[in-house]
Amino acid sequence: MRPETPSRGIRQTDGVNGDGEVAAAMTVNDSILNLRRRIDSREAVVGVLGLGYVGLPLCIYAERSGFTVVGFDVDGDRVAQLERGESYLSDLGEAELGTALENGRFSAVSDEKGLDGADIFVICVPTPLTPNQVPDVSFLHAATETVSRRLRPGCMVIVESTTYPGCTRDDILPILEQSGLRPDVDFLLAFSPERVNPGNGMEQTRSTPKLVGGVTPASLDAASAFYRCCFTEVVELSSAEVAEMAKLLENVYRSVNIALVNELAVICNSMGISVWEVIDAAATKPFGFTPFYPGPGLGGHCIPIDPFYLSWKARELGLATEFIELAGKVNTRMPAYVVDRVTQMLNDASRSIRGSAVMIIGAAYKADVADLRESPALKVAQLLIEKGARITYHDPHVGSFMIGEAVLYSIPLTKDSLSDADCVVILTPHSAVDWELVYRNARLVLDARNVIPHDGRKSFSI
Ligand SMILES: NC(=O)c1ccc[n+]([C@@H]2O[C@H](COP(=O)([O-])OP(=O)(O)OC[C@H]3O[C@@H](n4cnc5c(N)ncnc54)[C@H](O)[C@@H]3O)[C@@H](O)[C@H]2O)c1
Repeated sequence: MRPETPSRGIRQTDGVNGDGEVAAAMTVNDSILNLRRRIDSREAVVGVLGLGYVGLPLCIYAERSGFTVVGFDVDGDRVAQLERGESYLSDLGEAELGTALENGRFSAVSDEKGLDGADIFVICVPTPLTPNQVPDVSFLHAATETVSRRLRPGCMVIVESTTYPGCTRDDILPILEQSGLRPDVDFLLAFSPERVNPGNGMEQTRSTPKLVGGVTPASLDAASAFYRCCFTEVVELSSAEVAEMAKLLENVYRSVNIALVNELAVICNSMGISVWEVIDAAATKPFGFTPFYPGPGLGGHCIPIDPFYLSWKARELGLATEFIELAGKVNTRMPAYVVDRVTQMLNDASRSIRGSAVMIIGAAYKADVADLRESPALKVAQLLIEKGARITYHDPHVGSFMIGEAVLYSIPLTKDSLSDADCVVILTPHSAVDWELVYRNARLVLDARNVIPHDGRKSFSI
């Protein structure tokens, strides 16, 4: 798909620039023209900054497509693991990583000098929030400064890290210009959001349409050509800002809809109605309804964080983002709601939460991954400990985690470990867990994921 409207170019290369000056000195560098040919022939070298959930799979897609790829990460341990052929991502098998290394087209480095010679730089570093819920773009700026130091005429830079609309043009571009090189004359710049869904395998990501927006039409052309080599479908957008905003819309949409069903779950519980049955019933409508499901709270690097990138930007413009704030509030309350329910269930069984043994099943924020980032299990565990519960946990993917100074270790899921607990709390629906065993042997269960029957005597839905 090609947009009708050209992107808001920063400087035109064929006439007059944005300040009205004749662009006599702005002859496009020949190497920029060559980049397109080097992409098509796979001679272009790809440098990926940040080898996490987003960057490492991208290295593999690009390598498989025939490019030589250098992955750069400031975390020397991760680089050493990759050099040994060890994958730290559940979606990337060691056989796939091994093939990329054996082909000689993929290498991982922790010294930025290793990026010298790259033609395409793709930035995939974290974009978290500060403790005050303000975007923390320090990793993004640091990675861009690294690129700026390594930039040569004829290169392209692509940002994949999620960020606020305008960031690529207003923040990233000036840092790159510190190299003395000029956009569209010496280098190109685009934004392309990642749509990784951890736990769903690499193939799903590769076949998910890839959005691309350039800061200029030439940037869009080259970035789109690159992604067409690696992904099944590329969707060209009229600007980097549209691509940045589209990524935020996707995550705001999820956050708001999850908040809606979380609120409904609380209401259904107090009315004795199964929220799961209600959602399944509504989902039989073949149009106008998309099912979302309640849970113990939001987790992961995207949905709890990205919407606040938009709120922050909107505040700068004097605009309110009430849906985002409200969804944030409702979703953030869920871990405390889970703990209140456990307290109530124990009370109904004539027990106090203080001193009770509570077993948590699932520490990761979603099924079948080991990712603990923003996991609601951490908050639930912390609140239970504060209330004096003695907690244990089981997670087939997470061997241990920390709450303050305390380290908790996953215990085996057995008839005894289950029946020893006064209450079991199901937080993550891992497919490797024997839910039948849980249902049969737990004395009291609160199920936040609808994986066991809810009989209203010993097992309850959130
Ligand atoms: N994980 C997801 O499901 C997902 C999905 C879509 C978009 N995103 C976005 O993609 C970006 C990356 O997320 P992720 O999940 O891959 O993060 P991650 O934490 O898994 O990996 C990021 C990597 O970047 C490295 N890093 C940090 N600063 C660096 C620097 N200056 N130079 C080089 N490397 C650096 C870290 O050491 C880490 O290995 C974020 O903006 C995130 O919002 C993530």
